Amino acid sequence: MAVSLPKSSVEFSDPAYWKKFFAIHRSPFEWYGDYASLGAVLEKYLKPADDILQVGCGNSRLASELHDVGYRRILSIDTNAAVIAEQTNRNRERPALKFEVKSATETGLDPESINVVLDKGTLDALLPPGDESAVELVEHMFDEMARVLASSGRYIVVTLAQEHIVRAWIKHFLPTNQYILRIHKIDNTASGFPMPVFILVATKMKMRMPMPMPMEFCRAGQEKAVRLADANGVLESINGEQYLSRFVHLCGKFIVDDPAVAEAKSYAVFIVPIGRDGDWLFATEKGRRSLRVQCEKDRLAIVTLFRESSYASLDEIKDELTSFTIRLNPVKDTKGVPKRYDFVSLGEHDVKKTIATGESAMNGRWSVEDVLIRDKEYRRLKKGKKAISFDTLACEHHEVMLLSFALLEACPLVRPDEVPLKVAVLGLGGGLLAGFLVKNLAKARVTGVELDPAVVKIANDHFAFPSADPRMDVRVMDALDYLRETAEGDESLKQDVIMVDLASSMTEEGLSCPPPVFLGEQALEWMRGALTENGVLALNLVTRDEDVSKAAKEKVGRHFASLAVVSSEEDVNEVLIAARSEAKTPFDTKKLMASLDRSRPWIKKCVENIDKLAML
Ligand SMILES: C[S@@+](CC[C@H](N)C(=O)[O-])C[C@H]1O[C@@H](n2cnc3c(N)ncnc32)[C@H](O)[C@@H]1O
Repeated sequence: MAVSLPKSSVEFSDPAYWKKFFAIHRSPFEWYGDYASLGAVLEKYLKPADDILQVGCGNSRLASELHDVGYRRILSIDTNAAVIAEQTNRNRERPALKFEVKSATETGLDPESINVVLDKGTLDALLPPGDESAVELVEHMFDEMARVLASSGRYIVVTLAQEHIVRAWIKHFLPTNQYILRIHKIDNTASGFPMPVFILVATKMKMRMPMPMPMEFCRAGQEKAVRLADANGVLESINGEQYLSRFVHLCGKFIVDDPAVAEAKSYAVFIVPIGRDGDWLFATEKGRRSLRVQCEKDRLAIVTLFRESSYASLDEIKDELTSFTIRLNPVKDTKGVPKRYDFVSLGEHDVKKTIATGESAMNGRWSVEDVLIRDKEYRRLKKGKKAISFDTLACEHHEVMLLSFALLEACPLVRPDEVPLKVAVLGLGGGLLAGFLVKNLAKARVTGVELDPAVVKIANDHFAFPSADPRMDVRVMDALDYLRETAEGDESLKQDVIMVDLASSMTEEGLSCPPPVFLGEQALEWMRGALTENGVLALNLVTRDEDVSKAAKEKVGRHFASLAVVSSEEDVNEVLIAARSEAKTPFDTKKLMASLDRSRPWIKKCVENIDKLAML
């Protein structure tokens, strides 16, 4: 098995981890890039005559590369004996280079004997985030580095500059009033290393000064350093650079060009609404290609906003993005000036506030958000997009699923308080649909089936889900098992309506809902078998792929006597409504319309939707 990057914080400082790591990574493994990407900054701080100490050399080629460009007096140390042996062996042709098994916390070197200490990735490795026990070790290392550094010596740390690293570094060196602290952002885009890399340089003065020494920040490719007042200023600059790198990284991935066009003549930036980044349209290559075609642009830059960001308006987003997106604009006027371009978005959902976020072992990251939809505020669970109000449904596809009632012999849309019926909702999410049914159909017994116990807990904690209602039965189990048990069980288990609202993460197959197995022959047969004789299935189908949609409808159609489809106007959802028996074809909407109880807003909404019900 491959040992790659350390998985837990303790592993970083555990010699056993490194032993295993290097046993597998026999060839040089360059943390944060090699001399080609770091050299331009390193050379500012190195002189050929310097005595250089490299701490935690691992099996990096850095010492060899420095040697080959003229720096000879390099001692590299590491606590791992195997890598030291390997380095010694590999550098036989470079006798000036020394490699020794030693700890950076206790080098045994003479005081003030070193001009440059070089650390690439070792500080990051020794001080994982949130590991208090490592702080002491790192303090020892800092003290030791300060001890061995000669006057005007440079302590150079190549790092990802996570906040705890930068704070620890500043906290140690700034109060001494003896070090000039400088932070460089490296342009490592060509190195293949996916994260932004920084170099921290602490330059030692001859003696302590009466006042704090300056702190400076140098952006990649800029000569001039910016002076910063305190640790927060430093962190802000670093964060800005990290943000830019993440942005460029994201955009780099999501720039879609028309393959048939040699020179792009039109360009737009598409902003993915917050919370929609998992949709097929944005999350898959095929989806993004189709988005570009829909936008009718030769080049489309698709921008995913970070969930933690909050923006008051689309204009605010544009302002923040313009300095980046302009760089991607291929459309220039005759003077080479980039032409105006559009920002586009779906813009229908606006996240007002994130109430809670977390991670479930089964479903991964989730968040509960208050969102504005059609000028009304709703609460939804990111995975299932459910609204909190049990009086109305925020999701159009839920409203449409209620049309399944129209195909029932005893129609609950006519007498919602009187018709006894059994409904199973597969996929609970925030529990909104199931909760809505319990609240609005006085005689309905609702079974909610959910695989992930964390989702049930979210429904209870954040959505006032009526789990205690005697008419509500929550089953934490695989919906497929539920279907099999019900289909094979006795008549008392059968349901009048089964609503399938199961999200899937298998976006690559072009099917976000339901998971593909639920459209398999066996599952569809169980769905049919789990219904009463005149029962109705409502299945939420989410795909942008027309072929996938067509195949799904054909499959469902083969298992049920009649099938109707309602396509959403706002969203990608299609709701398939399938009746087990032939009874209601052609569907008599007129007769039904006349008898509906329109005093209830949700039934009024059903009336509007009935027109969209197209029997296939
Ligand atoms: C992330 S690797 C960096 C390797 C190398 N500098 C590079 O750029 O590829 C961290 C290295 O620190 C070494 N190490 C861990 N604790 C150490 C210590 N106290 N003193 C010296 N080296 C140590 C590990 O053995 C490992 O080689």
